[in-house]
Amino acid sequence: MTDKTAKLTFGDQEIDLPIYSPTAGPDVIDITKLYAQGKVFTYDPGFTSTASCDSTITFIDGGKGELLHRGYPIGQLAENSHYLEVCYLLLYGELPSAKELDDFEQTITNHTMLHEQMVNFFRGFRRDAHPMAIMVGVVGAMSAFYHDSTDINDERQREIASHRLIAKMPTIAAWAYKYSIGQPFIYPRNDLDYASNFLRMCFGVPAEEYVVNPILSRAMDRIFTLHADHEQNASTSTVRLASSSGANPFACIAAGIACLWGPAHGGANQACLEMLKEIGTVDRIPEFIARAKDKNDSYRLMGFGHRVYKNFDPRATVMKQSADEVLELLGVEDNPLLQVAMELEKQALEDPYFAEKKLFPNVDFYSGIILEAIGFPTSMFTPIFALARTVGWISQWKEQLEDPGHKIGRPRQLYLGETARDYVDIENR
Ligand code: SDX
Repeated sequence: MTDKTAKLTFGDQEIDLPIYSPTAGPDVIDITKLYAQGKVFTYDPGFTSTASCDSTITFIDGGKGELLHRGYPIGQLAENSHYLEVCYLLLYGELPSAKELDDFEQTITNHTMLHEQMVNFFRGFRRDAHPMAIMVGVVGAMSAFYHDSTDINDERQREIASHRLIAKMPTIAAWAYKYSIGQPFIYPRNDLDYASNFLRMCFGVPAEEYVVNPILSRAMDRIFTLHADHEQNASTSTVRLASSSGANPFACIAAGIACLWGPAHGGANQACLEMLKEIGTVDRIPEFIARAKDKNDSYRLMGFGHRVYKNFDPRATVMKQSADEVLELLGVEDNPLLQVAMELEKQALEDPYFAEKKLFPNVDFYSGIILEAIGFPTSMFTPIFALARTVGWISQWKEQLEDPGHKIGRPRQLYLGETARDYVDIENR
């Protein structure tokens, strides 16, 4: 923090507001005392200029296309690390030693099973329920099954809840998928790594051994890593706000899953692939670009644009490399969807509208192509995003609870409604 101040003058008032300098990114003006001193609110719907907290977990420089997790660039983590090591880094702040990593992976492995009674919970849904609807319900219901890790004031219970959530999300996501296709649940195995376990629970059947393809499990693990955390995005802010009331960790993560579901956020990967399928062929791309540019049409190119990245999303760059590898492995490098995606990216980036508004492919643009190539239906894309983001949500939840100064989040408003008026009896209306 520094002793710099901003001077705010309005009417006959002059208020000095402290300015804090971060280790990276823009300075912030502390307005916590503004209402008490000046009896005014600030106004920032969508929080485009508002820092809701301080954090040491993730940093994004939207101009440079930089994403750091505890200081480590996402490209280096995607290349050299793996998801559970990134989970450890996000949760505990440092890369683990070999023993710390082994212990952590063992702990996560030992928490991958669900309480058997939860099977009945899945069976309460219609078979055609969207997997996100199942995930929101089942994760929220975990607070009814794991009472011994809901006390947010107990550090050890917070840690157990964090481990349980990271460990059980693949099982929950896989079982939501199996339930939707009428196949039996496949139980996790302790001799498989995290991504391989997930692929086997999704695509394995009791009738035969499932052989994990190492290139697909590596691509799956990389997708998890690229989605792990992303500062105070909409769903993470939802988790923090839910946590600020003292809600239990499972309720907070269920709230984050619900928020992620929207097509403007985590639902964009499903919407993006559906858009690519709707475009269908390269010759129809100009029609869709024209619609996205039309001010009178609310249509947007899914997978393009970002609130923070105004250059390129570094995750999209890595994701495209993975897409090339997976499609080559599967011998579908001439995948028509990939052809449409690459031509759409080329034409959009050459179009002045997208260049002026700094709209570039984001993390959701290529992930759907990989997931579809691996064999997932589009309805499973956002559950996979939620699975991967759980570590980011829970790390930010933990960080907020460990801040002794944290308080309940309670924004104010610019009220434009009626001023006080008397009730009118119905016979006089
Ligand atoms: C994620 O926050 C995060 O970090 C999220 C995320 C994470 O990891 O948690 O990165 C994950 O959510 C990625 C974003 C996925 N969403 C999509 O791909 C959906 C399509 N994108 C848009 O809905 C939009 O770009 C947002 C929601 C992502 C960002 O919206 P903003 O920052 O509020 O920008 P905006 O809506 O104010 O748009 C600015 C201008 C507008 O034009 P004008 O009104 O100024 O004339 O750009 C236009 C918009 O119309 N615009 C688009 C566009 N996105 C913005 N025009 C066409 N196609 C688009 N995709």
